[in-house]
This record gives sequence, structure tokens and C-alpha cells, in this order.
Amino acid sequence: MKNFTYFNPVRVYFGKGTIARLKESIPAGARVMMTWGGGSIRQNGVYEQVASALKGHPVAEFGGIEPNPRFETLMRAVAAARSEKIDFLLSVGGGSVLDGTKFIAAAVPFPGPEPWDLLSKHTPVRAALPIGCVLTLPATGSEMNGTAVISREATREKLAFGSPLLFPRFSVLDPESTLSLPPRQTANGVVDAFVHVLEQYLTYPAAAPLQDRQAEAILLTLIECGPRLLASPDSYDERATLMWCATQALNGLIGCGVPQDWATHAIGHELTAAYGLDHAQTLAVVLPALLRHQKQQKGEKLLQYGERIWGISSGSEEQRMEEAIAQTEAFFRSLGVRTRLAEYDIPAEGVRGIGARIEARDGKIGERRDIGAEQIDAILQACTK
Ligand code: NZQ
Ligand code: ZN
Repeated sequence: MKNFTYFNPVRVYFGKGTIARLKESIPAGARVMMTWGGGSIRQNGVYEQVASALKGHPVAEFGGIEPNPRFETLMRAVAAARSEKIDFLLSVGGGSVLDGTKFIAAAVPFPGPEPWDLLSKHTPVRAALPIGCVLTLPATGSEMNGTAVISREATREKLAFGSPLLFPRFSVLDPESTLSLPPRQTANGVVDAFVHVLEQYLTYPAAAPLQDRQAEAILLTLIECGPRLLASPDSYDERATLMWCATQALNGLIGCGVPQDWATHAIGHELTAAYGLDHAQTLAVVLPALLRHQKQQKGEKLLQYGERIWGISSGSEEQRMEEAIAQTEAFFRSLGVRTRLAEYDIPAEGVRGIGARIEARDGKIGERRDIGAEQIDAILQACTK
């Protein structure tokens, strides 16, 4: 196991009725800006619950943060927050609203003229407004981490940044607020959480048996709960299970001291930037092709994954690895998430050049830093079949 520092300052309020805990969590006298998305919180009662918990606080609002939150939209919020002297941000919505809020938090006190530098030049975050979160969509893990992913319309970029200063001070996780999610977003959440675990688990052995077992626990729970949830979308218990799985999948714990991949995410972000696919849709397309391409490098963990998660114990090593990948792809498809670019009408020529763009920006990617332009293009070509 490698050395590591584990840091997670987020206070989590989990369960029914926990939105009321906002009352005691927002500092007295704070000038709060509540951020939200396209309006789902107005339809499912979350907005009213937040408004009632915040009675007595001066609250400004910034609505309209879109899925895959855009820099252009967020800069309008930054201007409003500066002019209204906001000193606390409350994100109410899914991962996009929260990621957008993290950007606003860092951009408001940003000293230079161009806050996009936080993403494009990795300029460190030196100050940030405090953030609170009411999460309505379990998927990203953003509620318990310090990362955000922001898109820029003008340049068709989708980039990530992060800082310990961007962890929410608290996150309210009330599974009841997720009962209104449509099947597509529910399935997206299962796939995103599943792939977050695999990006940290399916690499190479690192003498970290506890992290392996923790990761496997999340995978097995997602495999049980995903189909049940789609069959019984009104089940509070299944909603709660998914919500806690998604948080655990990307709060840093299972990644302690182990190699991490993140190539599927890097490639997926480019597909969202170019074609607007949902984040999880890109992952379901890229992951199976990436695993097939990296089979030898990931061999030991792929066999372990196949045996412990899918019960695959017979056949040659090659057959067992292929079976593990096929089961993963079938799981995504069973949730109604497509796994081939052709199913989104994206042709082979539509993804050429993505590899060169990623390598020019990030260098080679993957846990062994052996996935460059050529490999990415080969993976994407396999996704088109
Ligand atoms: O905008 P509203 O009207 O709220 O509707 C949203 C949106 O249309 C809707 N929704 C959210 N909660 C709902 C609901 N509809 C009904 N009932 C509810 N309770 O769902 C749609 C999608 O929301 P969005 O926030 O975009 O989804 P998600 O939470 O999956 O976030 C995706 C974004 O997070 C980034 C992705 O790249 C993408 O930009 N990620 C962030 C990460 C992080 N910060 O650590 C890691 C992830 O890998 C990911 O990259
Ligand atoms: Zn993700």
C-alpha cells in the first residue's frame, strides 16, 4: 500500500427530513446564495423545504445551472455573488449544480482576471466561499469530495479542478428528495458510481486488501440495488442504498493508497463536450472498450473482479477476463444504458482526434500512464462497433 493522507471534512446529514437541519448548519448572519438547476426542485417539494428551513436568513437565488454546468452561466452567478456580497453558497440539486457552485465559490475571491485559469492552467485555489449542499441526485460523489467538472461552451472543453477548500461544509442527503428522479437519471447514477469504484479498483494489485473489499462491497450492492430500483422506483430503502453507495464511491476512502485509473472519465468528458451525452452514458460506452484494450495490464485485478463480483471461476484466463467485461457491459445494458457510440448515431470519423487532444493536454493517462493518443483512438474506434 502506498503512503496516503486521507482528508474529509464533510458533515453528512442522511435520511428523511434532514433538509430541516439546514437551520442549524448555516452560520447565523450569513448572506446566503442558493444555487439550483432547471427547476426539478420546484416540482418535487425540495425548494419549499429549503425555503422553510432558511426562514430568517437573507437569501439570494441563482437558478438555471444546466447539466454539465457551463462556465458562461456560472460567471453570471459570480458577478451576482460579488455585487450582493454573498458569503455562503447553498447548492440545491444534482452534481452539476454542486460542481457549478464549487466553481462559483473559487471564482468569487479569485484575484486574477480569468477564473477559467483554475481549470485550464491548474492555478491553485487559494480562497473559496464556504459551501453547503442539499443533494437530489446520487451519482457523482461531489457531495463528499473537493472536485468539480466544468464545461466551457465557447471552446467545447470539459475540465476538472479541485481543492481541499472546495469540500462542502455539510451535505444533506435525504433519499426522499430522489424519489422524483426519472429512470434515465437513476440508471445514470448507478453507472457513474459503479465506474467510480472501478477507476480506483480495476488497476493492479497494491497490497490493499481492505480497500479491495470495500470497493467490492459497493459494486455488489450496486448490482443488487440498481435493477430493484428501476423495478420499484418508489422504494425509499432502495433510494437510500443508492445514495449512500454513490457517496462512498467517490469520497476518497476506497482510493486510499491504491493506484487509480480515471482514463474512462477523461475520454468520457470529451464525448460529453463534443456530443452532449450524459456523463454516465459516456462511461458505459468507454469502459468496456477500455477494459478490452487494457486487458493484459489489468489482468490480475480483472480476474479477481470477475471471480468476486460475477462468480467467474472456470475457463482460461482470457475467457474469464472477457466474461468479466461482457457481464459489466450487460449490467449497464440491463439498466437501459447503451454501450456503443453507434447507438447514439456517432460515427467512427466523429471521434477521431480526441486522443491527440487529451494527450496534448494531460499527457498519457491511466494507472500506468500508458494510454496516449494512439491508444485512446483505438479504444474509441472499438466503441463505435
Ligand atoms: O436541473 P434540474 O431541473 O434540477 O434537473 C436535473 C438535471 O436535468 C435532474 N434532477 C436532479 N435531481 C432531480 C432531477 N430530476 C428529478 N428529480 C430530482 N430529484 O437530473 C438532471 C441531471 O442532473 P445533473 O446534476 O447534471 O446530474 P449528475 O448528478 O449526474 O451530475 C453530472 C455532472 O457531474 C460531473 C459530470 O461530469 C457532470 O458534469 N461529475 C462530477 C464529479 C465530481 N464532482 O466529483 C465526478 C463525476 O465523475 C462527474 O464527472
Ligand atoms: Zn463520474
